[in-house]
Amino acid sequence: MRRVQFFDTTLRDGEQSPGVNLSAEEKVAIALQLEKLGVHVIEAGFAASSQGDFHSVKKVGETVRQPVVVSLARAVEKDIDAAWEALKGAESPGIHIFLATSPIHRKYKLNLTKDQVMERAEFAVRHAKKYFPHVEFSTEDGGRTEKDFLCQVAARVIQAGADVLNIPDTVGFLTPQEYGDIFRHLKEEVPRIEKVKLSAHCHDDLGMATANSLAAIEAGVEQVEGTINGIGERAGNAALEEIAMALATRESHYQVETGLNLKEIAKTSRMVSKMTGMFVPGNKAVVGANAFAHESGIHQDGMLKNAATYEIMRPETVGQTDTRLVLGKHSGRHAFRDKLAAMGYTFDDQQLNQLFVRFKELTDRKKTIEDDDLVSLVEERLGDE
Ligand code: KIV
Ligand code: ZN
Repeated sequence: MRRVQFFDTTLRDGEQSPGVNLSAEEKVAIALQLEKLGVHVIEAGFAASSQGDFHSVKKVGETVRQPVVVSLARAVEKDIDAAWEALKGAESPGIHIFLATSPIHRKYKLNLTKDQVMERAEFAVRHAKKYFPHVEFSTEDGGRTEKDFLCQVAARVIQAGADVLNIPDTVGFLTPQEYGDIFRHLKEEVPRIEKVKLSAHCHDDLGMATANSLAAIEAGVEQVEGTINGIGERAGNAALEEIAMALATRESHYQVETGLNLKEIAKTSRMVSKMTGMFVPGNKAVVGANAFAHESGIHQDGMLKNAATYEIMRPETVGQTDTRLVLGKHSGRHAFRDKLAAMGYTFDDQQLNQLFVRFKELTDRKKTIEDDDLVSLVEERLGDE
């Protein structure tokens, strides 16, 4: 099976979520947890953007051993120099240079011609290569760039010595088919394309970031970029835990391995949520509080007989303690009896039927039934005797 490596940008693109601001200590703590998760590259920040970020990038670079630690940089000398200054003491330093390539960005943001964009890209990669063993180049808004121009830029940065070529869908605009086609096109048209690792970087504006990342993997990319819990600019980035679990759960379909320590997913998600203050919705895939919870009686009954009836992955695989059978108005007698037994109460069939009637009355009044509610129900029943 071929290897797809994970590039985590929780500390950079993720930190660009409105309202999020991580201290150097928090970034180091998250980076150490990402190292346990086994990500291959950590983007620690944007060294040239502020004194604080410079310091954080430096600290993460000095602390983390296994993953490559990169700083973001614009395609300008001073950003590349700042990134090197921050990371020259790192075990495995890298840089992530970006330059917009799409017509709309060239015209309104950069005011540069195609030739000027290519010259700047080539210069930046050559300059970075003087210091860094690992240079990634990103064609910002690559998803909306003319395919032939994308190929020309790719050829130039490969010639200049780039190690990784990332084509971001910066504004989350593409469909999975369109995104996959870009990589297939590059592989067919760009000379010496095998010299670089191709990378996917998706945003979730239309809710397609995970699907687009998986389409890129099917088209042959060797790296995917994203964040924990999918945090990031606007609607966020591709959620790495979703991509990882899609690849693991549908291994025979994708035929790739990641080398990630999946059991660290839940802990990493909780840590990122706590430190960024970004709440994870209950129904969030893989890491939401309800991702392994079952309420309906039919589902609970199935789960009690065989978990595979309603779960395609096990909670313990991602480090979640257990499946939760939530008692509510859709729950059945079977789950109710099991829950009472787990709390130490056993009843004969007649008693159980009476209690179940009262339980159902309660569920019409109360949305979620806690253990305390069940204790009251049982004690009331015992008092009646
Ligand atoms: O989404 C994007 O284009 C980016 C770049 C900086 C790579 O995050
Ligand atoms: Zn991005």
